[in-house]
This record gives sequence, C-alpha cells and structure tokens, in this order.
Amino acid sequence: MGNFPVTSWEHLTDDLLPADAVIAIDGPAGSGKSTTAKALAKRFNLLYIDTGAMYRALTLAALQGEVDCAEEKLLVDLASSSNLELKTGRSEIGVFWNGEDVSQAIRNPEVDAMVSLVASHSGVRSIMVKYQQALGRRGGVVMEGRDIGSVVFPLATAKIFLHATLEARVDRRYKQNQLRGHQVSREELTEDLAKRDKKDSERATSPLIISPDAHVVDSSGMSLEQQNDACALACLVNPALDLELDTDLEPALRELPSNYRFAYSIMNGVSRFFGLKEVNSQGKAVPRGCILAANHVSLWDPPFVGSTLRRFRVNTLAKAELFQIWPLGNLFRWVDSIPIKRKGFDTSAFDAASKSLLAGNNLLIFPEGTRRAIGHPGPVRNGLGILVQATRAPMVPIFIRGSYGRSPLGGSPLSPLEITQGPVIRWHGLETLLETMDPKEVSRRIARLCQAAYEELQARSFERIAQTDFEKKMGRKQLKKFAARQKKVFGS
Ligand code: DC
Repeated sequence: MGNFPVTSWEHLTDDLLPADAVIAIDGPAGSGKSTTAKALAKRFNLLYIDTGAMYRALTLAALQGEVDCAEEKLLVDLASSSNLELKTGRSEIGVFWNGEDVSQAIRNPEVDAMVSLVASHSGVRSIMVKYQQALGRRGGVVMEGRDIGSVVFPLATAKIFLHATLEARVDRRYKQNQLRGHQVSREELTEDLAKRDKKDSERATSPLIISPDAHVVDSSGMSLEQQNDACALACLVNPALDLELDTDLEPALRELPSNYRFAYSIMNGVSRFFGLKEVNSQGKAVPRGCILAANHVSLWDPPFVGSTLRRFRVNTLAKAELFQIWPLGNLFRWVDSIPIKRKGFDTSAFDAASKSLLAGNNLLIFPEGTRRAIGHPGPVRNGLGILVQATRAPMVPIFIRGSYGRSPLGGSPLSPLEITQGPVIRWHGLETLLETMDPKEVSRRIARLCQAAYEELQARSFERIAQTDFEKKMGRKQLKKFAARQKKVFGS
C-alpha cells in the first residue's frame, strides 16, 4: 500500500486543525491505532475515544455472564440493559461496565478471542455506533476503530487508514502482551490476528474497509515517531486545502454570464417564496471542478439547489425528459445542463459531464438516479464512482430536505425546507484502492460513502428540527411505491 507523501507537506502547521475536528482512525488489529490516536489527541488537544474498548466491554460481560457470543438477541439485551461508560481523556481512557472499572480486564486474551464475533452482529453495532456518534458529535475527538470513517463519522475532518503487515503487527502485540504479563506465543498471535482480520473485513455489517477519502498510512517500516508524524500531517491536509476555498463570493457573482444570472434570479425567487433555508457547513464557496452530489426527493430539487449555488457556473446532469417540460426545460438549457438517458449507460452524457468537470466547472448531479422516499436517502448508483474515477474531482454532498409537498401558497407547512452543503470530500485513498480492487467495487464504495454522507447530514438536520409527522408518514408510503419505480426506471 502506498504511503502518504509526507515530505511535500512539511509547511503544514498544527494550528490549521479546527478545535471541533473529528479524526477517524481505522485499521486492523495491531496496526498501532491506539498509540497514534493517543499521540494525536495529545498533540492537537483532542479527546481520545477507543471504540474497540466498547465491543470488548460487552464481550467481557457476555463471557462473565455466560451469554453465548453467537446469539445476537441475547447480546443486544445485555447491552441495552447495562450501563457502559467511557471516561475519556487526552490519553488513557477508563471503561466502566455497570459502574465497575473493566479497563484492564477487557484486554484479556479470552476477550481477544471472542470480540470479533460479538462485533459482527448488526444489532450490537447499531447500539455502539449511536453511542459513539453521541460522544463525538460536538467534535474535538480522535476516534479509533474499524468503521469510524465509513459509518460512524463519514464526514470526519480527516480519515486515516493505518495499516501494517501481519508480521509487524504480531511483533508489536507480542511485545505489548509481555509488558502486560500475558503469555501468548507468536504462532498463536499470528493465528488470532489473521482470524480477526478476516472476520472484521468480511462481516456483512460495517466491515473494516479503506474509505476512498482516507489517507492510507502503511506503518510497517516506520518508527513510532514517523508513524505519528505521518498521521498528524494527514490530519492537516483537508484543513489546509479548505483554507484555500474562497470566502469572498462577490467576484464570482460578478463574472457570471447573463444567462446564468437570469436563470438564478428565477430560482432565487422560487426559493424565497417557499422559505428555503441554506445551511453551509463551512460557510465557504465550493471549489472549482467539484461534483455537487445532491439527494433527490422532488422534481423541484434542481431549482432549489441551483438557488443555493447561485454564484457559480454549475452544469446539471438531469434526466432527458425534464428538458421537455416548460419552464423547467428552458431553465436547464439556460444554464448549460446536460441531458442524461437513464436506461443503460449514457456515454455521451457521461463524457460531457467529465469534460465539464475537467474544465473546472462544477457539476450538480443526483447520484441516486431517481427520486427517493423522503427520510430514506439512497441507494446511490455506481455512475458517481465512475465519474470520480474518470476525473478525480472532489465531491461536496448536498442534502435536500422538504422540497417534496410544498404548498402552492408558499411557506413551509408540512416540513422545513432546508438545503445543507456538506464539507469537500477528497479522494486521498483512491489510488491505493485501485491498486488492489476492481473499479466496480471502488465505485460501490464511493456510492456507499455518498449515502452515508446524506444520512449524516439528514441526522444533523433532524437534530436541528425534528422530523415532522408528514415526513415520517409520507416516507413510509413512498418507500413501497419507489421500490416499484426503481424497477421500472433502471430495470433492476
Ligand atoms: O481495536 P481492538 O482490537 O480493541 O478492537 C476489538 C474488536 O472490536 C476488533 O476485533 C474489531 C471490533 N471493532 C469493531 O468491529 N468496530 C470498531 N469500531 C472497533 C472495534
């Protein structure tokens, strides 16, 4: 696996990292995650959260209570009826199960042997993930685990996938065990780590994966200091690139051609009439040459999103049928939208979209391919990943809420109308993934990340304004209806 190019980033300084940063560190057992996560917490003044300790605490409780670790329901009951508490700090953490300090006991070889099985149950994971998200939601954390970048915090400030060869990891665990007074042979450790790697990587729910936007750091040949430095620099890359984003939006507006201005003034009027609220996670413009990937719930999504992007030339990839509808079709043509046929793979639309991105334009797409039930974004189709692989263009996820069911009288009677612009996602891990993986699988991974981003932006929106009854009921109704439409549109 390729290493992150450390030397070209020597000018980066620690104060670039925002105080509310979330650093996600994932990787296999024994790759040095804990050591590095603690070092980063200290260096950047963040809280250190070890999510493996949570699965370990449940495993220990199951072993002590003679609960079968293969029985998901029993484990879920045990977790739901117990009190797990992490006392977080800058380096060591305390783990308490029903008030008892189990920080040491969860590192026993018996727990080592069973914890992957416990962590493979989706019911167990969903309880733990909720707890982890609550712990890190306000930011200022370094969280280590297996699915932090892919599931727990898909919009983390920095994601690191820390990797090392099996030999290097066995060596480290052996020395660690000796220090703790546990007698386990190298052969046993090799077998245990290989087994856990396999189980953690192949399980159905949230397996250990390299997220396409993660920095991949192979620490096999590195000293501890080099490993910590490489990871610290990786944390600063996105904040440094974000710094270059434009905050002065007026010049961009002045340069807009008149056809865009005209189209945008119509979109702005529509958005104002319906009381649209813009939520911009960074308060900054999107960089040039970005894929703006929005979820899709209503035919009115393009003009609503368009109004929030009003300062830029944005090309929209929209289904060909829409170009026939007045006045939508005219709006689309004024802003150089690209028609796409949705059955099969539309090569000419794809080529036009890639060209536009490579020329530095922004491209608005709805990568779910069709409208989805409100409150249930995704699944995202593979076209997004194909476009990413062809252009390497960064992606900004955009979450649309409330564009469905607007009253013709304006305002927001049934649900809030909000458009949230997420952070810029850059594909740091893409080359590493493509070295070892089928491009189709890479596209699937990009699609899943985009869906996870929507879910996260939706959760934040629901936190600001609770999901309304209309949204809940309509979402349930649409789910059934849209499954049938999906078949009709895509034939799958
Ligand atoms: O990092 P660790 O060795 O303490 O993790 C113990 C086990 O828990 C490991 O086998 C995988 C699992 N785990 C997980 O599935 N998801 C996480 N976020 C953290 C750990």
